[in-house]
Amino acid sequence: MALGDQYVTWNLEQILVGEPLPGNVYVHIDFRFITFRAEGDTIDRIAFDRLLFKKIRSVFILEQDRPKFQNWYGKIQEAEAATPVEPLAPQNKEFPKVREEAHRKMMDIFLSDHPDKIVQQTLETSKKLVVEVMKFPYAVKTLSQLQSFSRSSVDHSVNVSILSTYLAMQMGYSHALILQHVGMGGLLHDIGKPRIKVSDSETPEVIAIKMKDHPTMGLRILDTQSKVPNEVKMIVAQHHETHDASGYPKKLRGSAIYDLTRIVAIANVFDNIVSNGKGTLRERQKAAINEIDQNLFRKFDPQKLEKALKILKMGV
Ligand SMILES: [Fe+2]
Ligand SMILES: [Fe+2]
Repeated sequence: MALGDQYVTWNLEQILVGEPLPGNVYVHIDFRFITFRAEGDTIDRIAFDRLLFKKIRSVFILEQDRPKFQNWYGKIQEAEAATPVEPLAPQNKEFPKVREEAHRKMMDIFLSDHPDKIVQQTLETSKKLVVEVMKFPYAVKTLSQLQSFSRSSVDHSVNVSILSTYLAMQMGYSHALILQHVGMGGLLHDIGKPRIKVSDSETPEVIAIKMKDHPTMGLRILDTQSKVPNEVKMIVAQHHETHDASGYPKKLRGSAIYDLTRIVAIANVFDNIVSNGKGTLRERQKAAINEIDQNLFRKFDPQKLEKALKILKMGV
């Protein structure tokens, strides 16, 4: 950078996670611009989440790099739009709009200093999303109609909400209130993550241990709100408990885990494996199904897992 360089803001939402950057990206700390990532580097999901959880709404780029960044963002958007996805049926036309609304609400929740104050609005959006998922036909043609790439915890939350609702529906849960609880629990399951304070000097191992507090932190946020159903709180508090009692925070076993949590737990792991995978969305989905089926099966309620795998396999 040379003397006289001008920095301009670049919105966090316009960062393409995992895509090589067309120029340097800076953050502003202690009145100085510091290189966060250099040209050619990528911002991965963990780094993106860290910015998000630190409530950083935008990063900085050099003014002269702006056209390169605009081009970069536009090209990827175009490529994603061109990825063949089974068209939605007429009854599902509202679905993308409501999904976008849920995405915005979760972005706000993760960026807010008072996430508890916007939980109520988010639950209203969640209800709308569940209504839209309920309109999907008995079996979706492809899972990519329901799941997009999880580039950050925001996409992940929306994906888990939609997948959990869909799985529950296909498993035979038909009561709207129950499906709402699943959808809400799925959307808010990681709400506690920004409450975990980590410093840049800590190792990934230390951070991973600290992050294990997020279900408890999430419950603490929701406990301040009288209108959040207990079912939703249970899902948030227990979503990392596993059937074989190897989970956290309480190492609950089997039937001690709330019934609906067991569905969200499957969707959560599935979306995480997909987002960490390689290849097209469909290749990643297939690999995630195999991974759960062959290696992770002990972690889930066997009956629910059998049904879930059948449902997921139909969509890939
Ligand atoms: Fe989690
Ligand atoms: Fe999660």
